[in-house]
Amino acid sequence: MTNTIHILVGTTSGNTEALADHVQEILESHELSTEMHYEPTFDSLPKSGVWLIFLATHGAGDYADSMLDFYDVIAEANAPLLPDLSYAVCAIGESCYDTFCEAGRHCDEQLSILNATRLFERLEIDMMHDDPEQKATYWINQSIDKLRSYPHQ
Ligand SMILES: Cc1cc2nc3c(=O)[nH]c(=O)nc-3n(C[C@H](O)[C@H](O)[C@H](O)COP(=O)(O)O)c2cc1C
Repeated sequence: MTNTIHILVGTTSGNTEALADHVQEILESHELSTEMHYEPTFDSLPKSGVWLIFLATHGAGDYADSMLDFYDVIAEANAPLLPDLSYAVCAIGESCYDTFCEAGRHCDEQLSILNATRLFERLEIDMMHDDPEQKATYWINQSIDKLRSYPHQ
């Protein structure tokens, strides 16, 4: 049994990667072990323990490029159930779009439908108005105890 938090990165132009790297540094500074997945495919991920997902919305409400393959699997009608998984989602977008943060919202809801456990509430970051690092830092610092006490696998 290891204590690894798996950080999934859904990005097209890199903003989300920088944010996920920043949060990884915070987690490591709290002596939590992490593993980055910059192009997460469903098959390559452990199906138990914790996923922390940073996902930008692109297109018209679509997943960012690095998680399109992941989307194809979890959005299928017969997608595999994930009863041993816990997760939290940080959704990134811009409020000028009608489909603000829609990919992150979809991912959060879809994992819940697949019987995974939402470890804490979704954060939505508006890249037009928010300070992304400040918001994400506050969000993750509030959740350190939950991440630490969770029996990771
Ligand atoms: C072509 C394009 C389409 C976008 N579509 C959406 C959208 O539908 N909803 C949303 O909330 N943000 C949308 N955005 C904003 C991105 O989510 C935002 O720019 C984000 O910082 C991109 O993150 P990334 O650099 O990690 O890819 C779009 C951006 C671009 C360039």
